[in-house]
Amino acid sequence: MAARGGFSNKLGFIAAAAGSAVGLGNIWQFPYVTGQNGGAAFLLVYIGWIFLIGLPIMVGEIAVGRKAQSNPYGAYKKLGGKSWAYVGLFGIICGVMILSFYNVVAGWAFGYFLELSFGNLLNEQDYSGFFSAYVADFRDNLFFSIAFMVITAYIVYRGVQKGIEGTSKVLMPTLFLILIFIIIYGLTLPNAMDGVSFYLLPDFSLINGRTIYTALGQAFFSLSLGMGALITYGSYISRNDNIVNSAILVTIADTAVAFLAGLMIFPLVFSQGQSPAEGPGLVFVALLGVFQTMGPLIGKIVGGGFFLLLCFAALTSTISLLEVPVAFLVDEKKWSRKKAVSVMALLIFLIGLPSMLGFGAVGAFTEFVSYEGGVKSFMDVVQDLFFVISLPLGGFLLSVFISSKWKTAGLSEEISHGNPSYRGSFIEKFFNLMIVYVCPVVLGAMFLLTVLQKFFG
Ligand code: PFF
Repeated sequence: MAARGGFSNKLGFIAAAAGSAVGLGNIWQFPYVTGQNGGAAFLLVYIGWIFLIGLPIMVGEIAVGRKAQSNPYGAYKKLGGKSWAYVGLFGIICGVMILSFYNVVAGWAFGYFLELSFGNLLNEQDYSGFFSAYVADFRDNLFFSIAFMVITAYIVYRGVQKGIEGTSKVLMPTLFLILIFIIIYGLTLPNAMDGVSFYLLPDFSLINGRTIYTALGQAFFSLSLGMGALITYGSYISRNDNIVNSAILVTIADTAVAFLAGLMIFPLVFSQGQSPAEGPGLVFVALLGVFQTMGPLIGKIVGGGFFLLLCFAALTSTISLLEVPVAFLVDEKKWSRKKAVSVMALLIFLIGLPSMLGFGAVGAFTEFVSYEGGVKSFMDVVQDLFFVISLPLGGFLLSVFISSKWKTAGLSEEISHGNPSYRGSFIEKFFNLMIVYVCPVVLGAMFLLTVLQKFFG
């Protein structure tokens, strides 16, 4: 273990895993997806998936990682043999592809933080136009996404304990504080309660097939499941740690931040009479008008605080995404951490270029292909292939792997280290039932439906 590094204790793991889970998915994506899918009704379905499917898969991933003490490729290979190793490799590739576009959006957040805190962003008249021009501006984007990737790479280079754990332990509590501060401020604004009602009073007629499937995809992305990030982090924890407790805490932290992000954003949006269904621009467009009305000083503090929060959340996720291929190269190819980090960060940055250029800078990447009844950008395609479709597929394969190859006895054996009362408990029965029967059916169906809808609909 010494050569690979490891977390110093259970708290270090929880901070890092919660840091991975809490990210743009919670603060940028969750509110806009909830806004587009009916508010409170979506929230309920989402929370259901988190605990029914997300938590058992998370426990499964951490257990596989800890048992094998290896990256996803090595872990599947050790426990399942050569052909299963490809499942791990596919997960690593998904991580690389996800980071390639995630880093671009993180770069926007970074740029907005600087423009808002130190520039003239609050004097703009048309935030929608500003956002479109901003994401199409090649130079700014290049600069900010390089900066974000360099910071990520530096932290990952410093290693599991000093870099990943140390950063997460500081950033996660800070993030909570900023969130709570903005929520309290938002709730004092006029019409804030309309936002609270939209968010918390469910209209069940809004639940349909699309809500159910969108909520499941969102839950997987938000918990960082299906591509081996938690197999990798699981490989750095001690055998005396209680995996179930840690996974429950990470799940609660992730869900709490998503929930609080909604509670922060909807009152702000409603107080300005903006639409909650604005889409991906919700935090970059709708919220800006809100910050503007706060006046120059408070606007800078609250708005700047918000984008700083977004950057922190994104950073603890980008480091987990980069750690996955780095662990693979260190474990399997015996590369030094330094070489693995430098090569992977550069490669992923280059893969992300077409995503960055697909917002108007280069027409061919902006209107890349068409399917699902519309024109898609390069980033849309990468998201569809490596996140929307592949993460539930990764979860499906993990549950099939545990039930057919490693067996639930192997899983129980691993979990019971650090948790002697696990065997025979209700929670053991629940996880086994979910992993053997429910996850394969639900996730398999979800995979097929998504592929059919996207490409053959
Ligand atoms: N969970 C992150 C978020 O919600 O933003 C995204 C993510 C990070 C997905 C790491 C997958 C991963 F391995």
